Amino acid sequence: MRSLKIIIFLTSVLIWPALASAFSLKMSTAQIPLQTYLQQADEIYENMSLDEKVGQMLLPSYRLLAIGAKSIKGKSSMDCQTTINNEQATDQEVITACGLDQIAENKLGAVLQDGGPFYNAPTLNHWQKLNALAVTAHKAVQRDPILLIGNDAIHGNSHVQGAVIFPHNINLGVTHDVSLVAEIAALTANDSLWSGFNWIYMPTVAVAQDLRWGRTYESFGNDPELVSHFARAYVQGLQQASHLKFTGALACVKHFIGDGATQYGLDEGDVQFSGDMNAFWKLHGLGYASAIQAGVLNLMVSYSAINGERMHLGGPWNNLNQLKNYGIQGSRFRGFAVSDYNGATRAAYFFNLSHKNKLSTLPEILARTVNSGTDMLMLGVDAKKNPFDSTSPYYYQNVHEVAEALKSAVKQGLIAEPRFKEAVTHILAAKLAMQPQINVASYEQLQKKERVVALKAAEESLVLLKNEKHLLPLHKNMSQKIKYLIFIGETNDLGVQNGGWTINWQGQKGNQYFTGVDQASSGAKTIEQALPDVILRKFKIPLHIYHVNEVSDHLSELNATNTLVVTVVAEPPYAEYMGDIGNPHEVDEWYDSGIANHENNYMPNEQSEVLQLTWSNTDAETLNKLRDKSIPIVTIVYSGRPVVLTAGNAPLSNSNAVIAAFLPGTLGGDALANAMVGQYRFQYNHLSNMLTFPWPRNMQDVVDRFKNGELFKAGYGLPT
Ligand code: GLC
Repeated sequence: MRSLKIIIFLTSVLIWPALASAFSLKMSTAQIPLQTYLQQADEIYENMSLDEKVGQMLLPSYRLLAIGAKSIKGKSSMDCQTTINNEQATDQEVITACGLDQIAENKLGAVLQDGGPFYNAPTLNHWQKLNALAVTAHKAVQRDPILLIGNDAIHGNSHVQGAVIFPHNINLGVTHDVSLVAEIAALTANDSLWSGFNWIYMPTVAVAQDLRWGRTYESFGNDPELVSHFARAYVQGLQQASHLKFTGALACVKHFIGDGATQYGLDEGDVQFSGDMNAFWKLHGLGYASAIQAGVLNLMVSYSAINGERMHLGGPWNNLNQLKNYGIQGSRFRGFAVSDYNGATRAAYFFNLSHKNKLSTLPEILARTVNSGTDMLMLGVDAKKNPFDSTSPYYYQNVHEVAEALKSAVKQGLIAEPRFKEAVTHILAAKLAMQPQINVASYEQLQKKERVVALKAAEESLVLLKNEKHLLPLHKNMSQKIKYLIFIGETNDLGVQNGGWTINWQGQKGNQYFTGVDQASSGAKTIEQALPDVILRKFKIPLHIYHVNEVSDHLSELNATNTLVVTVVAEPPYAEYMGDIGNPHEVDEWYDSGIANHENNYMPNEQSEVLQLTWSNTDAETLNKLRDKSIPIVTIVYSGRPVVLTAGNAPLSNSNAVIAAFLPGTLGGDALANAMVGQYRFQYNHLSNMLTFPWPRNMQDVVDRFKNGELFKAGYGLPT
């Protein structure tokens, strides 16, 4: 155990200066002539109409545009989905049916895909078609340098069927490999550009403090220093700064600020903090500081609040304006801030719960948000006066209503001219700094590179938690005797391997988006698909494969030398508040919609109260019989965060080896197989495969945020 302590000490004290210096030598910080672009933006602004200026500040989602196409009187009788599915439909028919003509009508300069699949099928071609039609529709918007098309490509171009899905940020943190992460970002930028998206809502630089948070897996770790190095790497990888322009995709550092530190880990919750702003910045701001130094020109505002004050409405220290106008500890943000999805109206709901002077009209809400530092308003579906009440009236159901409200706020003087001009010119300046270029010859070549890098990242992102008698890597002599491989649990499900934000906002179980040519292009393999081949290739032995329902018929043939059991325990895929766990009853009225509260209806009931994983009873019974014969059991954990493995039938104590794989993406199966046979050695000659969050003994550790100890410290990971 002593040697382990030394490893943890070394990694925590020595790792970062070494890695940081190595990385900074390779990637220079962007020297984009922003002042020049701000001056050019001023000139454009002076020639713009009020409508054009307002149009720059709006960011509708494709789904809002499609709903607008149907809800605006006499607009379009055709339905977007039907029209896009109709191969005979002309481009103009698709533009009208999907509401893309609202881009010209409202002089829009930005759109986003909002977490859902493409209407027809989320293939590369379909996304290319939709984005190309949006650019066509945008041609009518004079003076606008570029149409920004936003994409939540948070682990690869993850809404495209057949795309290589990289490991989520929690995995990338475990790699401790900042140059590899910069490469992932650059590949993701190219992949996005190939599908027509030029703005990526990454990196998330939350320093997650509470594992109950459904977005923990979007955090690189709970150490501000670690997060800051990945923030820099990701921004520089995504934006690809040359000496004058960004030739990659526009990055977006998010969610400003403190989203990972809310009470109970409640998504969109409230951070209770008693220190001053500088102390808060030291805990939660280093990712923004390094992203700004790396040249990031876009920041997304957090839904959450600090000490009860919503970030979209300024926060307790008027944080956003402070960061933009004066900076915090030497970091001054000169780009533009975008709200989160319906962020302004969601913040107004919470504001109105606790303030007498309500923000009741849309112009007032927009004005308060813009005056608090938000420059661009992200607009999505379901913008209701009470976001948690499905019967609540809407604030808006199409982008034109918001354009009118924003115009009214300006005309009424609720938004003063200097603030209005600053918002529009900062958006224009960021656009002027962009010159996106795809720098690979073909999508096939790009994906070939992606598969190599994704495999390396997945391998470096695994953590060996337990390895009784050095079971792993499978020794040659042992492997020569293996005849039977038993797979138990979700060993053949890419959905739990990829996690949320995969094709769909919430992700989904199953392999349906990664079959046939899409499996080949994405490199998607489960452990069940990968391990037999790897054992055959390495040890030249064919295997009999059994599943849980076949064990009893073959039990007499199985013994400790000719059989290996591989099991998977997994969280279901989830995103945002749908992954919140164990929210105490105090917050029920917050989530009356029942989608994320202490009885989180989305998560399996046995999990919604506690952050733990166990085998199903059927699996546990079968595993007991196999363990009674001393047959070795390797358990793989797919989860968005460390989870309790000691409750119920206790996978940790009842397995011989346990690998925490978190959410390793499509190459996760190959990575695990390589690690199990020794093709890849856990942190054998580098500093990867180490936790970036503590691992809990029990749920109380999670609730206490580990103030009374943990099972494994951050930095833990067994070598092989
Ligand atoms: C979501 C998320 C944010 C994402 C945005 C656009 O609500 O909070 O991370 O980028 O909306 O999908």
